[in-house]
Amino acid sequence: MCGIIGFTGKQPALPFLLQGLSRLEYRGYDSAGVTLVNSKALRTWKTKGRLSELEKLLSKDLAESCGIGHTRWATHGVPSNMNAHPHMNEEGTISVVHNGIVENYQELREELREEGYIFHSETDSEVIVQLLDFYYRKNPVMKEALAKTVKRLEGSYAICVTSIFEPDTIYVSKKESPMVLGQSKEGTFCASDAPAFLEYTREILPLQDGQSAILNAGSLEVFDASGKQIEPRWIHFPYDVQAAQKGGYDSFMLKEIHEQPSVIRETLRGRFRGTKTVLPMIDQMNVRWDRIDQTVFIACGTAYHACIYANLLYQKYTGKVSWVIPASEFRYCSPNVNEHTLCIFVSQSGETADTLAAIKLAKAKGCVTISVVNVLGSSISRMTDAVLYTAAGPEIAVASTKAYTTQLVLLHVLVLKLAEMYGIKVKGKSRLISDLKRLPEVTEQVLGQEEKMKELAGMLIDQRDAYFIGRQLDYPTALEGALKLKEISYVHADAYYAGELKHGPIALIEKDTVVTAMATQPEVASKTVSNIRETIARGARVILITGENMPAEEFEYVVRIPEISPELAAIPSAVLLQMFAYYGAKEKGCDIDKPRNLAKSVTVE
Ligand code: AGP
Repeated sequence: MCGIIGFTGKQPALPFLLQGLSRLEYRGYDSAGVTLVNSKALRTWKTKGRLSELEKLLSKDLAESCGIGHTRWATHGVPSNMNAHPHMNEEGTISVVHNGIVENYQELREELREEGYIFHSETDSEVIVQLLDFYYRKNPVMKEALAKTVKRLEGSYAICVTSIFEPDTIYVSKKESPMVLGQSKEGTFCASDAPAFLEYTREILPLQDGQSAILNAGSLEVFDASGKQIEPRWIHFPYDVQAAQKGGYDSFMLKEIHEQPSVIRETLRGRFRGTKTVLPMIDQMNVRWDRIDQTVFIACGTAYHACIYANLLYQKYTGKVSWVIPASEFRYCSPNVNEHTLCIFVSQSGETADTLAAIKLAKAKGCVTISVVNVLGSSISRMTDAVLYTAAGPEIAVASTKAYTTQLVLLHVLVLKLAEMYGIKVKGKSRLISDLKRLPEVTEQVLGQEEKMKELAGMLIDQRDAYFIGRQLDYPTALEGALKLKEISYVHADAYYAGELKHGPIALIEKDTVVTAMATQPEVASKTVSNIRETIARGARVILITGENMPAEEFEYVVRIPEISPELAAIPSAVLLQMFAYYGAKEKGCDIDKPRNLAKSVTVE
């Protein structure tokens, strides 16, 4: 997610801007920039890369006492100098930084182009400063021009505006993306998150959706959505900088677990029109879909589990031939693939060496390639015929959580889209779409069971082994639950098809062995229950994860996911197992965010 900072005071603004941006680096970024303004000039410096690159452009004696700064996490337009913020109007008299997604930016670009505006970047954000210029020219009152501008924006935004017309003033407006304000003896601040100016004040003012503000050196005015001035409501921010960067959570992993409702919402944003999916990147592919005779899902680790999930859905919805394989195996299995094969690659980082190598092989064999990636402009995103982006934002913890659930969600939309491209009608599609849209609230409800998962994780404290079992769409969840637990708590955790237990693995079950059983799929739940009874008969302690209506009186530990289509149960189930693993690792005092032996992105084979 992008980082925004603004400062206006009686002393040079630049040190506050650079320090603020450095405090927001944890939000992840690929380019950075600042604007400084005084009565004579408005100047902007911006560059691709780290803050250190930006600082090389800046002389230390810049004395302007008002300015805005930005670190960009690319969503529209690859990381580049031109796409970096701040964005200015043609005359260079107004400068804007933005965090969020302007969904209708193409339409606004066209409208402004007809008015003679020229665009220099690939970003959605640039339409904001041009629209502001358009309205300001008609009526040179910035507060009103900004109000008219944001009324035209569909999507999410946190915006800061400076201009040469009012060189000591910063205008701010907010909807869905975060923006907090602060005041101290040094001056007045605005930022995406409190750590940016926490050294100067712990009294902060989080803007609410629809609100705007006008910041001057010694004053700050807040307005409601109708433009009426309202009393600022200050709150005391209880955390220090370090804790604040984790949003008050004690680890990035826990913060990212709790970000899932909002990032699932962002990933789904604009993906449906009625019962049609909206994936323009797929529409624009030059593919004879009637000639695709097999589909292969390829990835590593957690992303591979997402592929197992997507593969099962693909077979269920399209009835077509498909298979799934780890990228590290694909390269050596002499795959019988060709121009009639669709290969779908999934990767959070977009830099995983095994996946990159698999893409090269698939392309060499003429396959059609699509990738589902979280990092815009990453290597994998540039290698495939089409790329779809999850909107999980930067995932800092090594153990993948929000990237996984957004992969599941976006892959679900992709499979529905492919069925459309094949001309296949998916049974229950409108139910699926309405349940996909409910996922943020369902995920929020599941997060309410955190205490219960923490308590159940206590069962792991003296366990060396733990097992996860499931059938069909519950199996990738079992795999992911086992991976989460083993990679952060170092407990030996394995996942098995529930039906496979009796063919060997059940020999491992002894008194007090902890078995987590997934039974969210009505068609096979009763079969899984009989598998669970087999383990209990041998002394296992079973945690049952199941749906609202599944009878479970006979089981001691039962956790229920909220009512949702079985095809989507994997998302809430995964969140439960993430919390289970988190507290299992916490009990053992493990380093949650940086587990031993692991890297966030495995860029070696
Ligand atoms: C999952 O928690 C791990 N961090 C790891 O398995 C990861 O999913 C795998 O290395 C693939 O990474 P990618 O999604 O960035 O390609």
